[in-house]
Amino acid sequence: MIEIYICMGSACYLKGSEEIVRIFKEEIFKRSLDVKIKLKGSFCLGPCNQGVVVRVNDEYFKRINPQNAKEVFQEQILPYIREIEGDKNG
Ligand code: FES
Repeated sequence: MIEIYICMGSACYLKGSEEIVRIFKEEIFKRSLDVKIKLKGSFCLGPCNQGVVVRVNDEYFKRINPQNAKEVFQEQILPYIREIEGDKNG
């Protein structure tokens, strides 16, 4: 199971964490990825001024907002997850 941590710290929360959870959820369910990806809320991840911040393993995805969330998920997070999965399988 791969866990995606979305920062719920106050700075990120104000920039739309909740909306990002909703958008990511939609993207995950749309692709039936809920069997292998789990969304989790996180305490402050550190770089508050670059929020919203999302962490997958050791990788941080920054400056996510409700406007670019879908794009970041498709173009950065999913490819990263496929890469991790590839490493695990091969
Ligand atoms: S509040 Fe999100 S990184 Fe600090």
